[in-house]
Amino acid sequence: MTAAFPHHHILGIEHLSAQDIRALLDLAARYAIQNRSTKKSCDRLAGQIIITMFFENSTRTRTSFEIAAKRLGAEVINFTASASSMNKGETFSDTIHVMGALQADGFVIRHHENGSVKLASTLVSGAVLNAGDGTNEHPTQALLDALTMERHKGKLEGLKVAICGDIKHSRVAKSNALLLKKMGANVFFFAPPQFAYDGADKLGAIVCSSMKEALEGSDVVMMLRIQNERLAVGEFAMTGEDYHAAYGLTHEKLALAKPDVIVMHPAPLNRGVEITSEVADDPKVSVIFEQMEMGVAVRMACLDVLLSTNS
Ligand code: NCD
Repeated sequence: MTAAFPHHHILGIEHLSAQDIRALLDLAARYAIQNRSTKKSCDRLAGQIIITMFFENSTRTRTSFEIAAKRLGAEVINFTASASSMNKGETFSDTIHVMGALQADGFVIRHHENGSVKLASTLVSGAVLNAGDGTNEHPTQALLDALTMERHKGKLEGLKVAICGDIKHSRVAKSNALLLKKMGANVFFFAPPQFAYDGADKLGAIVCSSMKEALEGSDVVMMLRIQNERLAVGEFAMTGEDYHAAYGLTHEKLALAKPDVIVMHPAPLNRGVEITSEVADDPKVSVIFEQMEMGVAVRMACLDVLLSTNS
């Protein structure tokens, strides 16, 4: 089903070529069709065992990885850190080592420290998929975002994509910028001053000094929530209302974008803060729930290229 994929793990967009990304998106597009058909499941990964290990909260990513693995016929074990021997002092590395010793075939890992998933990949022989490491990368989110954009815009090349909000703490912004640049799209960052990210140049993103500049003429607007869990207590004092008034996406601001703009958000949404419900729930512009649907297709493609033995 797939051309040979030259990687044993998916740790970030940084390590993928445009050709790798194209192969994943094409395969995911086929799985998206399969997932809307009556025969959604197959046995491509039958007999394989995948462990999901989430050391940070998750709704969409963990569940969609689990559905993706099961749709492909694999068995899934959900490791729960809070009920594990980590409570008895076992370290992250030792915990990963244990899972490796149990000879699972695949590991889906989310952790709050940058680089932790890469470290895990050195401790196990199975395939490791990064489900988000700190503020670093969230490669499957960027892939599902790209698939959603392609479904609406037909291509990524030449698109103006505005990414607005807490860019500094967002792994989604980083992986998206890397992917979109590799695929020929133009990425514009706008962050409130407290959330400005000083590595935009390295990602090939253009930094805007106003939200207007980012939104004007854009094909895609991606909003990000404030990543409160990465802020020290009292570090950010603005109320939700004040933040919304200054930086929230409303229909009025969205009028600066192209008439056929689509609005995206990785979710969870903080309604009335970075985005108004009127925009988030407007079926003419919002593709937020379609992004979630594409998450299953993209994760099926990622698991398939790493773990299937009969390609
Ligand atoms: C994102 C994450 O965890 O980085 N969520 C997700 O996976 N859809 C974004 C966020 O938490 O704001």
